Amino acid sequence: MRRPERNVHQGYLHIIAVKEEYRNRGIGKALLNYSENIAYEMADKLFLVVADYNPAAKRFYERNGYQQVGEISNLYRPGVTEYLMVKDLKK
Ligand SMILES: CC(C)(COP(=O)(O)OP(=O)(O)OC[C@H]1O[C@@H](n2cnc3c(N)ncnc32)[C@H](O)[C@@H]1OP(=O)(O)O)[C@@H](O)C(=O)NCCC(=O)NCCS
Repeated sequence: MRRPERNVHQGYLHIIAVKEEYRNRGIGKALLNYSENIAYEMADKLFLVVADYNPAAKRFYERNGYQQVGEISNLYRPGVTEYLMVKDLKK
């Protein structure tokens, strides 16, 4: 079996969450940086989705360099649109 070549696959971050009483202290940003550093080893880009009812989280990702590149309706929950976000890790 051939080994996958470096940079062939892109990364997908499923979820990060910080317990409510610990938010707004930079922990979310640290978790994101940690995930990006792992993804950087094998991918050019990191994707994630954020739900339409979570504008604060979307802003958080935007301020950390993510751009919306699409929308997927009903991906995880009926009636909820997920915004597809991406960050170019090599820039
Ligand atoms: C989204 C989430 C992970 C962010 O985590 P967090 O630990 O609050 O994130 P940070 O503290 O790094 O950043 C949040 C804000 O805190 C502020 N902040 C960052 N570092 C700070 C510090 N040292 N002191 C005070 N405030 C700070 C910033 O204003 C930042 O706002 P901005 O990034 O929008 O400009 C968190 O709100 C969460 O768990 N939400 C619920 C789950 C969720 O929605 N997850 C995402 C699903 S896709």
